[in-house]
Amino acid sequence: MNERETLKVNEKGHLEIGGCDCVELAKEFSTPLYVFDEAHIRNMMRVYRDTIQREYDGNGIVLYASKAFSCKAIYRIAMQEKIGVDVVSGGELYTALSVGFPAERIYLHGNNKLPHELREAVEAGVGTIVADAYPEADLLDAEAARAGRIQEVLIRINPGVEAHTHAYVQTATPDSKFGFSVADGAAERFCAYILSKKHLRLKGFHCHIGSQIFEKQSFVIAAEKVMRFCAEIKQKLSFEAETINLGGGFGIWYAEGDKKISAEGYGEYLSALIDTVKEECERCGLKRPYLIVEPGRSIVGEAGITLYTVGAIKDIPGIRKYVSVDGGMFDNPRYCLYQSKYTALLANRAAELPCERVAIAGKCCESGDLIGVDMNLPAAKWGDLLAVLSTGAYNYSMASNYNRNAVPPAVLVCDGKAEYIVKPQSYEDIVRNDVIPTRLK
Ligand SMILES: Cc1ncc(COP(=O)(O)O)c(C=O)c1O
Repeated sequence: MNERETLKVNEKGHLEIGGCDCVELAKEFSTPLYVFDEAHIRNMMRVYRDTIQREYDGNGIVLYASKAFSCKAIYRIAMQEKIGVDVVSGGELYTALSVGFPAERIYLHGNNKLPHELREAVEAGVGTIVADAYPEADLLDAEAARAGRIQEVLIRINPGVEAHTHAYVQTATPDSKFGFSVADGAAERFCAYILSKKHLRLKGFHCHIGSQIFEKQSFVIAAEKVMRFCAEIKQKLSFEAETINLGGGFGIWYAEGDKKISAEGYGEYLSALIDTVKEECERCGLKRPYLIVEPGRSIVGEAGITLYTVGAIKDIPGIRKYVSVDGGMFDNPRYCLYQSKYTALLANRAAELPCERVAIAGKCCESGDLIGVDMNLPAAKWGDLLAVLSTGAYNYSMASNYNRNAVPPAVLVCDGKAEYIVKPQSYEDIVRNDVIPTRLK
């Protein structure tokens, strides 16, 4: 368990988060249930924000990468913490704007932004759009002209950095749908193209090398490469970047083998980036740019847990024991996508030590519908309350209604109080958009 969280085992032997007993949470809100620890989220946002303030004279901003977990409450928290957000779709943008998030602190990403998304962003006055395609630049220029404004943009570049993480979350290898390659000159050509656009104002460059990365050196190399690209572009195109955005990607603890990083430890990742940017500016004779980072997983990942009720248990002698829960790939598809590892415990008997290795199965009609295999647990029985840890990022945001299961609700806990931030879906919600065509009536 991670010491920096408010996760603990209370005197009843129950798991507690944010001062709330998980057994009580399950009684009040039912399962499956996502639970988010507000103090953890705020603390992480502050660590990044304060590091930029302290070590870079406040000349930058932390953006919360809201794809990790997007709902109205999280944008409200980011707003209160005076940070920015990164959004990647019209839906995320709409959600952020719906709580009054200041548009100038919103950055829009995406490798294939849709025409209506670009229009919505320009109309809303979104501060910066991270350009990642030629037709997008044309559309954006036209939208900005229509709105009578100059749109600030960054260009997503691919600096070519191998990061040690799952292939599906590496984004800066030569074979990537994201960004323009520095190595083959594509980034330079796109830069010249953007500079030729009348209604676009190029501010600088963005890169994001991938997710769930622990090696500081991978981030440092990426920062060096971005700064060297800035120097090259200054020389070749007489354009000096005012802003650089180094993305997110800091790894979190999920299971044995993952590093446990303290909040201050994450600040040190950012310090390493800041030092690199300063050194490279010195070396290349560049002005210190406005510096942006956009962590998602490290802000919300360990802040969240999912509570499930144990149902059917199937022990196949000599093969495997399956412990089934009332959730599955519809609330957490990460095992199916990346064979992700998790840690689970019985929240109603949280002090008990694990005594067996089991597979935790979901309730969907797919053999691959698992939360994990080789999970260490005490002997679970029907009705036990199972907690899966570190599910705050890329769980709710990747959830679906597969098999017409309802996406579970989410509660925010703080100082022993819990409130919904996402209400439960009813069957009626699930069929809301279904229509019987006239000829079937
Ligand atoms: C452009 C960009 N920025 C930031 C992030 C956030 O990454 P993480 O949640 O690993 O910090 C992502 C994740 O995919 C991304 O694509």
